[in-house]
Amino acid sequence: MRQKMQKTVSGRGIRLSTDALVDVGNLDENGNIHAADDPRCAFHKGNLLWHSDVTFDAVRANYSILAAHQVPPDRVDTEFADMRAAYDTLDDAMKKCVEDLSAEHSMWYSRSLGGMPDPGPDVKVTRRLVQVHPRTGRRSLCLASHASHVIGWLTEGGRKLLDELTAHATRLEFVFRHQWRVGDMVMWDNQQTMHRGTPFDDTRYARDMRRVTVLEGCDTGFGLRREGPGH
Ligand SMILES: [Fe+2]
Repeated sequence: MRQKMQKTVSGRGIRLSTDALVDVGNLDENGNIHAADDPRCAFHKGNLLWHSDVTFDAVRANYSILAAHQVPPDRVDTEFADMRAAYDTLDDAMKKCVEDLSAEHSMWYSRSLGGMPDPGPDVKVTRRLVQVHPRTGRRSLCLASHASHVIGWLTEGGRKLLDELTAHATRLEFVFRHQWRVGDMVMWDNQQTMHRGTPFDDTRYARDMRRVTVLEGCDTGFGLRREGPGH
């Protein structure tokens, strides 16, 4: 059986009718906007960092499908970065440098960057920085705010490398920006893209977004991710 997430966000209630839907909005179980001191606010701040969904889990996500039920009056977008183009445009020396490197991913690392307190021991997963697509054979970079450090490197040097690669991968020419409208549904391939939300006044405006996550090796749809808070 797949390893379950070991921690949840304190005070998190269930708002949606099925646990196959991941709640990535800012409403509580009563339909009210989270209070500013609600731990879920800090949790969702992690969504504003560049990441691919569920890289911290032993079974990675293939596809995410996100639907907009309610959006703020001011535009609030999601940006997507093409990690194939990011790899292709590395110079040869950098391609050689990263080819055999791996990074450690954990959900709570990215959440600590969003302002959540350190939860203590956590599930960690090691992933290669260069991934080869199983069907096309094309290489892409595997980064994400869930990646804390490079295995075998001193922390500072590894972080510097991850930051440099992320800055390269998210250059404007590699990024598509979707402006959400109610009723939109967007599907993306987590194994070849990163994404991030853009900030808005989340203590004033409601944003109701719901996601389904299709797990690696489960293209038929039978592998929906059913536990854990997502991202
Ligand atoms: Fe995400």
